[in-house]
Amino acid sequence: MTPPTVSLVDVSRTYPGGVTALAGVSLEIARGELIAIAGPSGSGKSTLLNVIGTLDRPTSGTVRIDGYDVPALSDRGLSALRATTIGFVFQHFHLADRVTALDNVAGGLLYSGLGRAERRRRAAAALERVGLGHRLDHEPHELSGGERQRVAIARAVAGDPPLLLADEPTGALDSVSGAGVMELLHDLNASGTTIVIITHDREIAASLPRRVGMRDGRIVSDSAADPSHPSHPSDLTRSNQPTRPTDPSEPTDPSDPTGSTDSGDSGGRPAAGAVPGSEAA
Ligand SMILES: Nc1ncnc2c1ncn2[C@@H]1O[C@H](COP(=O)(O)OP(=O)(O)OP(=O)(O)O)[C@@H](O)[C@H]1O
Ligand SMILES: [Mg+2]
Repeated sequence: MTPPTVSLVDVSRTYPGGVTALAGVSLEIARGELIAIAGPSGSGKSTLLNVIGTLDRPTSGTVRIDGYDVPALSDRGLSALRATTIGFVFQHFHLADRVTALDNVAGGLLYSGLGRAERRRRAAAALERVGLGHRLDHEPHELSGGERQRVAIARAVAGDPPLLLADEPTGALDSVSGAGVMELLHDLNASGTTIVIITHDREIAASLPRRVGMRDGRIVSDSAADPSHPSHPSDLTRSNQPTRPTDPSEPTDPSDPTGSTDSGDSGGRPAAGAVPGSEAA
């Protein structure tokens, strides 16, 4: 799968009534980065993550994910981009009740174009990967908080998205479970997944290679802007980030796995991994 890059230029998001959640944010994230976004409550962190995840549209500015000009995509193209490229983890898990861990995870693959047996096989593999191979048949109420969050992460990564977005993934967990989730995210990053984590936890933020600080809808600090930082934006992707003219739901160069993934009939439907689904329902 083609690794992602995120490129936001001068992105603003205002809500009716005059709230400015984002006020001119520019941010580049290179493939393979592991980045923390921190800042006070209401500073725009979730809005920023939702814009990157294409769950929310900016009022103005440019959003490019993996080379695609997001505002220019059709609903069908957006759905395809989400299904092939983006995994989402929410603070409060968003798992379906009365549905087993296996079916919760498999439900995230509903719009992947895969058959049911393959969805369940991949779901089991993803649960294995997060250390829950022995809990496939447990429903959310039969799991601990840390285990539920690991199910949510399994759902987000079951389709092998190159970009994982996590909104306070440890926010509802005790420190031991939180550390387990962070270890898992570090492992995923080591295997190539680009990861963006919103966190209020200073220790967690400090442990990540790049830290972006927000306040009042703006980025007020970025450790990558420090020239001594190894991943200064100038050595990242500016030079190799072509704009993709095609819609991700359209067939493209067969050598491009993003384009060749069968996601063509996902138009207008919710994102895989972004909305809890159930194979069993
Ligand atoms: N649907 C909405 N309508 C109006 N205003 C909104 C809406 N969603 C968010 N806001 C406002 O936008 C601002 C940014 O919200 P956002 O959720 O991005 O903050 P945050 O940094 O994630 O905060 P927290 O740490 O509390 O989760 C806040 O002032 C919030 O009240
Ligand atoms: Mg938030």
